[in-house]
Amino acid sequence: MQHTNPIKNSGKEKKFLEKALSQNSMQNGSGQVELDPTGKRAGKEPILETKQLCYTYPRLQKNALENINLKVFKGERIAVLGANGAGKSTLFKHLNGILNPLSGEVWIKGEKITKKNVRKCRESVGIVFQDPDDQVLAPSVEEDVAFGPINMGLSREEVKVRVKEALKLVGLTGTEKRAPHHLSGGQKKLVAIAGILAMRPEVLVLDEPTAGLDPLSSARVLKLLLKMNEELGITLLLSTHDVDVIPYFAERIVVLHHGRLEADGTHESIFNKPELLRKAHLRLPRIARIFELLQEAGVKTELQITAEAAKEEILSLMQKGPGQ
Ligand SMILES: Nc1ncnc2c1ncn2[C@@H]1O[C@H](COP(=O)(O)OP(=O)(O)OP(=O)(O)O)[C@@H](O)[C@H]1O
Ligand SMILES: [Mg+2]
Repeated sequence: MQHTNPIKNSGKEKKFLEKALSQNSMQNGSGQVELDPTGKRAGKEPILETKQLCYTYPRLQKNALENINLKVFKGERIAVLGANGAGKSTLFKHLNGILNPLSGEVWIKGEKITKKNVRKCRESVGIVFQDPDDQVLAPSVEEDVAFGPINMGLSREEVKVRVKEALKLVGLTGTEKRAPHHLSGGQKKLVAIAGILAMRPEVLVLDEPTAGLDPLSSARVLKLLLKMNEELGITLLLSTHDVDVIPYFAERIVVLHHGRLEADGTHESIFNKPELLRKAHLRLPRIARIFELLQEAGVKTELQITAEAAKEEILSLMQKGPGQ
């Protein structure tokens, strides 16, 4: 089966991808970051940070999160990978104070989240939940999208502008008066995303934003997120099981396994360690798996993770011939 790029490749995206792929690795394992592969960190304080974050649910035998140290810097695009139950949603719910740590701390823009500042924190960090039914509750689409901006105390005119803009961004113009419970699952997800976009947060945290979306909607959402990151500098953290789209979207990958931060690095550092991914019950992107199989068959080649890079590598291998 031919791999098709889920996000249509513009020259700009290709350039971004090449840049991201040529970056150095970060340290992995401890959550501490030593190098600065994206140049977004030097001398800066994190926009979002968890310090020794632990969390447990009642009647859960062990912690759902175990000593998570994660620094997120302004403008980064981070994918959080982890199998079912790894702790992704639990981590995300801590990032704007929906859950309170059992121990440890969460800091936003140099301030520790407390009961007093949690409202302000939620204006800076917007979260799109995994299940839109947890988020989309108003009787109409427009009322739902307006909910956040109204709570921020914005004027009626400004709220109207934001709702219109957000619905346009996700491609839902025309659905304003519809009842969200009459929308499809994917459309509801887009309403949830619009509701958070309307608040224009500095950090957008999206829990599996493309799950349940068709390829076109999924590509549209990822493209929109990329645009918001590149043009507005919005910091993005998203969780996904779809490892195939990560190379086209994220510049940093964080791997969670059994509530622990197993790895934190660039594509190169994470996807060049297939055993690490398998240990975390994850897999390589399909493209990379083909190159792993070629390596196992004795072909001297590097793992490639995008269709474009794979094409170049295959052409180069063909030129070298069977003897290489
Ligand atoms: N409300 C809850 N009550 C009790 N345990 C919970 C609750 N929510 C999650 N858990 C448990 O906490 C752990 C982490 O769950 P979490 O939902 O964070 O995982 P996840 O990585 O988001 O998984 P998925 O990919 O399935 O969404 C799991 O063991 C899960 O069973
Ligand atoms: Mg989850």
